[in-house]
Amino acid sequence: MPNSGTSCPIIGIGGWAPNVGEERTTGAKKWLLSALKSGYRHIDTAYSYGTEKAVGEAIVESGIDREDVFVVSKLPPNHHGRVLESIQESLDNLGFKWLDMYLMHWPYAAAYEGEDPEPLHPDGAPKVVDHPTIGETWAAMEDALRRSKCEAIGVSNFSIKTLEEVMKNTRIKPAMNQVEMHPYLQQNDLLKFCKEHDIAVVAYAPSGTDLVRNDPVIVELAAKYSVTPTQIILAWHLSRNVVVIPKSTNEERQKENHNLPTLEEEDLQKINALDRGQRICNKGDENGLVYGMSYEQLGW
Ligand SMILES: NC(=O)c1ccc[n+]([C@@H]2O[C@H](COP(=O)([O-])OP(=O)(O)OC[C@H]3O[C@@H](n4cnc5c(N)ncnc54)[C@H](OP(=O)(O)O)[C@@H]3O)[C@@H](O)[C@H]2O)c1
Repeated sequence: MPNSGTSCPIIGIGGWAPNVGEERTTGAKKWLLSALKSGYRHIDTAYSYGTEKAVGEAIVESGIDREDVFVVSKLPPNHHGRVLESIQESLDNLGFKWLDMYLMHWPYAAAYEGEDPEPLHPDGAPKVVDHPTIGETWAAMEDALRRSKCEAIGVSNFSIKTLEEVMKNTRIKPAMNQVEMHPYLQQNDLLKFCKEHDIAVVAYAPSGTDLVRNDPVIVELAAKYSVTPTQIILAWHLSRNVVVIPKSTNEERQKENHNLPTLEEEDLQKINALDRGQRICNKGDENGLVYGMSYEQLGW
C-alpha cells in the first residue's frame, strides 16, 4: 500500500459475527483459529463486531508471531470524538500494542452515549452528529498513527465524494478503503479513483452471498474450472487487484476461499458484464437512509 508503506495478504478472513450467539462469544476463537491454521495471515475485525478479544486469543493460541498476522480493526461512528481512547480499547481487547491497519468504519459521526453502539432519537432515527466532521476524525486518526498505535490508517464505506472530503486538508492519505464489492456491485469508478490515489481497495461481502453465488454465469464458470461459485467470485476480485476478506466459520470453506484459480480473460469479461449496481448490505431503511445518512450524503 503506497500510502502507508505497509502491505497485506490479498486474502483475509472476515471477522464479523452476529450480535448474539456463539459465533460472537465462545465460538469466535475457534473459527478464527482454524482460519489461521488454514493459512490466513490477515484478519478483519472491528470494535463493533465484538470479536477483537477472540482475534487476539486465536493468534496467541495459534503460536504464530503477532508480527506475521495483518490485523485490521475499525473506529465505530459513536467513537469519532474519542479516537485515542477507542483505539486503545480495541488494542486492549486484542491484547496488542499496535494494529496493522485502523479504519474509520463509516463516514459519519454518531452521538457517544457510553456502550450503546447506535444511540437513537425517540422516533428511532440514529443520532448522527455534525461534529467531529470526518476531516476532524481523520486528524485524530493521524495522531494515533503518530503515536504508533497503528501502522496505517484508512477508511471504510467511503465513496469518491467522502474520500475527497476527508483528503481535502490531510497530509496522510487513506491507505485503504473497505467497501461492499462483488460482481453485482463492481464500483468501477470508485476502484479507478482509489487506484489513482494509491488507496488499496478491500471488498467486503466479497462473495455477494447466495444471490451472486447462484448466478447462472458464476455457476457455469464454477463447473468449467471444477471449483465452487465462491472461488470463481473471489478469483475475479483478485484479477482486479482487490483485497478480499471472505468470512466463513467452516474450516473446509475457509480453505476453499484461500485456494483460488486464475480465470481466463473471456471469463473475467463474462463476470464484468454482471454489474447491476446492487447493494446487498446496508441497503437503507424505509426512508432510504443508511444509519440516518442518505445515499446522497454518503455519495453512494
Ligand atoms: N466495513 C464494513 O462495513 C463491513 C460490512 C460487512 C462486512 N465486513 C467485513 O467483511 C467480511 C465478509 O463479509 P460478509 O461476511 O458480509 O460476506 P461474505 O464473506 O461474502 O459471505 C459470508 C457468508 O458466506 C458463506 N460462505 C463463505 N464462504 C463460502 C463458500 N466457499 N461457499 C459457500 N458459502 C460460503 C458464509 O457461511 P459459512 O460461515 O457457513 O461458511 C457466510 O454465510 C465480514 O466478516 C467483515 O469482516 C465489513
